[in-house]
Amino acid sequence: MPCLQSISALTRRAALLLGALGLMLTFVTTTHAQATRYAGAPPLLLGAAWYPEQWPEAQWDHDLALMQAAHVHLVRIGEFAWSRMEPREGVYDFGWLDRAIAAAARHHIVVVLGTPTAAPPAWLTQKYPDTLRVSEDGVRDEHGNRQQFSFASTRYRRFAHDIAEQMAKRFGHNPDVVGWQLDNEYAADSFDPDAKAQFHAWLQHKYGSIEALNHRWATAYWSQTYDNFEQIPVRADHENPALLLDWKRFVSDTWRSYSLNQIDAIRPHVDPRQFITTNTMGWFDGFDAYTVHQALDIAAWDDYVDTGEDYDWVDNAARHDLARGYKRRNFWVMETQPGFVNWHATNVTLRKGVVRDMAWQAIGHGADAVEYWQWRAAPNGQEEYHGTLVGADGTPVPVYGEIQQVGAEFAKAGAVLAGTTPHAEVAVINDFDSRWAIDFQRHAANFGPVAELKAFYRPLRAQAQVVDVVSAHAPLDGYKLVVAPALNVLTDAEAARLKAYVEHGGHLVLGPRSGMKNADDGLQPQRQPGPLASVLGGRVAQFYALDKAVPVAGEAGQGSATTWAEQLQAQSPQTQVVLRYGKSNGWLDDQPAVLSRRVGKGSITYVGAWLDDGLLDRLTASWLQQADVHAPVPGVPADVEVCVRGDARHQVVILVNHAAAARRVQLPSSMWPVLAEGGASSEVSLMPYGVVVLDSREPAAANR
Ligand code: GLA
Ligand code: GLA
Repeated sequence: MPCLQSISALTRRAALLLGALGLMLTFVTTTHAQATRYAGAPPLLLGAAWYPEQWPEAQWDHDLALMQAAHVHLVRIGEFAWSRMEPREGVYDFGWLDRAIAAAARHHIVVVLGTPTAAPPAWLTQKYPDTLRVSEDGVRDEHGNRQQFSFASTRYRRFAHDIAEQMAKRFGHNPDVVGWQLDNEYAADSFDPDAKAQFHAWLQHKYGSIEALNHRWATAYWSQTYDNFEQIPVRADHENPALLLDWKRFVSDTWRSYSLNQIDAIRPHVDPRQFITTNTMGWFDGFDAYTVHQALDIAAWDDYVDTGEDYDWVDNAARHDLARGYKRRNFWVMETQPGFVNWHATNVTLRKGVVRDMAWQAIGHGADAVEYWQWRAAPNGQEEYHGTLVGADGTPVPVYGEIQQVGAEFAKAGAVLAGTTPHAEVAVINDFDSRWAIDFQRHAANFGPVAELKAFYRPLRAQAQVVDVVSAHAPLDGYKLVVAPALNVLTDAEAARLKAYVEHGGHLVLGPRSGMKNADDGLQPQRQPGPLASVLGGRVAQFYALDKAVPVAGEAGQGSATTWAEQLQAQSPQTQVVLRYGKSNGWLDDQPAVLSRRVGKGSITYVGAWLDDGLLDRLTASWLQQADVHAPVPGVPADVEVCVRGDARHQVVILVNHAAAARRVQLPSSMWPVLAEGGASSEVSLMPYGVVVLDSREPAAANR
């Protein structure tokens, strides 16, 4: 027990650390349905996908007892059980769900209910084949597998509404139901007659007249001029990029209205504390996730990684930050893999310790729940080989013990992390319009927009450690540095906001291909970066796809560009050339590759090439320095990830060692261990794949 004096000394040190962490604290008021914490449930939830409909009820208690022993406090159920809930049209059977929820509650487990619309029953698709989706080449799906419905089908939506409403009436006031998952992993668009008619109506609403559409799509090209909206083809490939971009936006709006159809059925019948979400898929770009999340209360995503014993933790970090950016608050991991999946060609398991590493990474990035798919191997079905916590025989598999440890740790750390969230001073912009526009016309096969985003994200994560990934429409004024990796589609409104951000002292970095396209995916009337060229005092003279590396050098050192290089021109005396190309195709020789201009206290930088990691590291360091952004825990080994969650009272640092060897970390100030016993320290050792959670506030203060 430290004496009073040393307590105040420690408190001072904690205050210093808060300063050293240099983090902005913002307070967001949330309604119950928007919060990610629920009365009665622990603040950090360990969960599993459970399919009670697949098992005799007599076995449920056995499974739930094993869950309870692993500190599982959450199950998601029902999302594929339509044929059990509505065995015949209009005939409902929810008794088994009542009993499953009650059984879970007896084991202190709360429930997220899935609406079962990703798997329509056979009676539905047999009687109403028009509800089945149609592929781009006009082939209607057969019944079987899942996701075989048309997201635009008016009739399907009626059935989806009804089953969701019946569920809501039954479970909307059930104290053990904390929220709703709509459908499951929205993915497949449909080209059926309903979708086609709705797309035409959507275009008509957007453009008002066919003349306006012809003008904005520049349809004089290849005799595309339309006389009426019905003539417009419905395609997702090989079309006018304006049409393709609008199709993606239509698809995004259609998934939003698909959500709203069920939300309208659920919301009137449920307690406000019950949230409504759906589970999304990382970088998946089938729809604009920001559009779809407008209708949802919280973000929840399914965290699956590439096959291998380790995972690409920087990619996964970015995907967590992406999910946090959908609602700009904490999120849930609605599914993750207990070791391995069944859908890669070779489904290598994560090595021992990495499942725990992944769970804590999720928490570090702002997840308040981590849920494993799935609890128990199904007795049959397409996923018999998938990783689980429990085998079909009902006994634990080896990874159960590791997940049980995670559960025990969540229980221990819950009170400390409750109400905390990451606070970033740096934002990376993720823009679906731009990602789509580049993918429609890559020009350089290797120019993957996500890979390019990650090239900028990687050094930011290492050096700034807390990074937001947000849409181009998010408020930017709280950020010291904003990086827009390839903001290809730049609307006038977005350009005006970015300009204002820079003029108010923000530091903006634009990556290659930025500001090339207008809102219709047409070429900007000015050269890149289009409406921002005047702020930059520079422009792109020409772009070049590369099939070999081009040397680049300047004050950030020497390196190379691959895949893409733009020949830049400084047009203002205040615009500085940061990097130049060396000898290459003649056009690029000695030409500017990176331009930068100070604007008041802010700055705008244009990076015209896909630079190698070393150059991007050094440029990133200079941008962070200029923007006065500092790592909360500087000098950590490259494979140790630093995550910080905080609130007004304290900061919690989560260190995850992604290496198979032990690591040591020096903290800027002493902190208290949360998972382990012991006093405050500024020296931390991490076991291979080890996790350490540290609190800036001493435990006694935390208990007050
Ligand atoms: C062909 C076509 C042109 C144009 C060029 C582009 O030659 O005839 O219309 O598409 O290819 O290289
Ligand atoms: C997705 C689905 C789940 C399951 C898992 C398997 O995330 O949502 O139903 O199929 O994949 O990895």
